Parts: sequence; structure tokens; C-alpha cells
Amino acid sequence: MTSAQIRRSAPGKVILLGEHAVVHGRPAIAVPVTQVRATAALETAPPGSGLSIVASDLNRSFSLSTASRDEPLAAAARLALAHLASPEPDATATVRSTLPIASGLGSGAAVSTALIRALAAFLGHAPEPATINVLVFEVEKIHHGTPSGIDNTVIVYEQAVYFMRGRPIERLTVSTPFTLLVGDTGVPSPTKRAVTDVRWAWERDPAHYDALFDQIGDVTDEARRAIEIGDIEELGMLMTENHALLMEMGVSSPQLDDLVDAAQFAGALGAKLSGAGRGGNMIALAEDDLAEEIAQALREAGAQGVIRTRVASTG
Ligand code: MEV
Repeated sequence: MTSAQIRRSAPGKVILLGEHAVVHGRPAIAVPVTQVRATAALETAPPGSGLSIVASDLNRSFSLSTASRDEPLAAAARLALAHLASPEPDATATVRSTLPIASGLGSGAAVSTALIRALAAFLGHAPEPATINVLVFEVEKIHHGTPSGIDNTVIVYEQAVYFMRGRPIERLTVSTPFTLLVGDTGVPSPTKRAVTDVRWAWERDPAHYDALFDQIGDVTDEARRAIEIGDIEELGMLMTENHALLMEMGVSSPQLDDLVDAAQFAGALGAKLSGAGRGGNMIALAEDDLAEEIAQALREAGAQGVIRTRVASTG
């Protein structure tokens, strides 16, 4: 059974701590960013037209039947149809997104999640989040090569998560909600390249990189405790410590370092790059009365955009 028009969405995300190390089996913490969203709207098309996907924000529009195998949105649709054992419907899927691409906010996982949800709903299904998560992870492998799975997990569940590869998902209790500012360098940062570079560096010098991953894992675990007991000052210090370790790992950039310094100078409790690094976004932990000042300092230091988001337990 199909309906005429169905719309579903998914949020963005930031990695609070643990990026890169999480690809190598250490823990990481990620939170949803609901101020930016990807949306997919499905509408019935004339019989025989098949499924068309129109993603103008991503400069991609195509028919499913002619799309290449490595087109991620086509892969998302094919995986969803295979899972539902459904033939291709006659429909147009309009995918929109306010997430900047290759910026560390999880654009790829968000559009895949929105499309899979909308397509399933159009066909009269509402798969469990765990099922959607598995499907989106398959698509993430096309985007990123060897993703840890944290991006799809935080986006599908839309909750703060403590994540370790191969372990059941742990929702995080945020006992004192806190404010994050997300500052965009405006420099695109494809995750696949940064993850591959870190892997090569680790293969050349495993002892050094394993030690870095371990330290990041420890910082992440300490941050988890700080979040659970509401020690926001401690969380800020740990974020800054994590940034120093990411600098040592070689995934920061002068623009990211400038934004991190600017945030701290303006009074942030802590700041770090977020996501793959080299460009993309950084995050700053702000006390509410200083948040506007810190956002302004980020803009003056060159941030192309600043998102203010509140992190709290949900669900
Ligand atoms: C990207 O948001 C986070 C990385 O750790 C990659 C991954 O976990 O797949 C850099």
C-alpha cells in the first residue's frame, strides 16, 4: 500500500570526543545537532516512471534504474527496497538538507537516514531504528571506506551516545544540559581521506598511534563520567586535551587551531576540532552567559557559520 506524500527527516551530529580513535576500537561520544536537518519527501509518480531521487542541495538528481552503484543515495534506496523485499515504486523522492557537506556534521548519514525512513514509510513500513542503523551503515561504507559507525548511530537514534565498535549502543545520561557552539572553517573535509591518512600513519608507527588512541580513549571515558555527574568544567578541559591529541595525530589545521584558540580566549570552557578534521567544524563548550560572545569571537576569527546547540538527555 502506498500513500501520496510522505516526509521524514534526520538531524546532524557532532563528535564530542574520540574521533579517529573510535575507528581503531576506542570509545567516542557523539551528540545530535537538531538545528540542521536532512529531509526526504516521497510523492507518487505516474505508473511506470520508477523511483527518481532529486537532491538539489547536493547537486544530485537521477533515476534509480540508471544510477551508478557507488551513488550513496541510490545505494540507500536499493538497500531499503531489498530489505523490504519491495519492487521499485513509482515515486519521486525530494531530498533536502541544511547540513553543510563534508563539514563533520554527518551530512551523508543524515540524508541516507531521511531517505530510507521516507521510502519505508511510503511503502507502509516503519523499520526499527536498529534496522535503519544497519542500512545507513552500509551506505556510510560507500562514503567513508572504513567508518566506525558512530555517525549513523547518533543520527538514527537522535540521542547522545557513548559508542564503541562492536558493542551495544549506550545512551548517555546528560545530568546537566550544556551548550555547544559549532564553528565551521568553511574548508571541506572529506572523512575518507583523513581516516585513510590516519590509518597509514598508524601502520608506519603503530606504537605512537596506539598510544595516542589509548590516551583519547581515556579522555573520552573521563568525559563520560563528567557528563554523567554534570561536571561541565571538567568536560571542557577534557575536550581541549582531546584537541591537543588530535593535533599530535596530524588531523588539525591552522584554521581549526585558530577557531579553537579564539573560543578559549573568549571564555569557552573547552574547544576542539570535531569530526575528521583538516577542515570542517570545531566545537566550543560555552557557559550560557558567554555563548553569544564566543560565537562572535568565532566569526571574527573566520568561522563561516556558527550553530548554537543544547545537549541534553532525550528519550
Ligand atoms: C567522523 O565523524 C568521525 C571519524 O572518527 C570517522 C568515523 O568514526 O567513522 C573521523
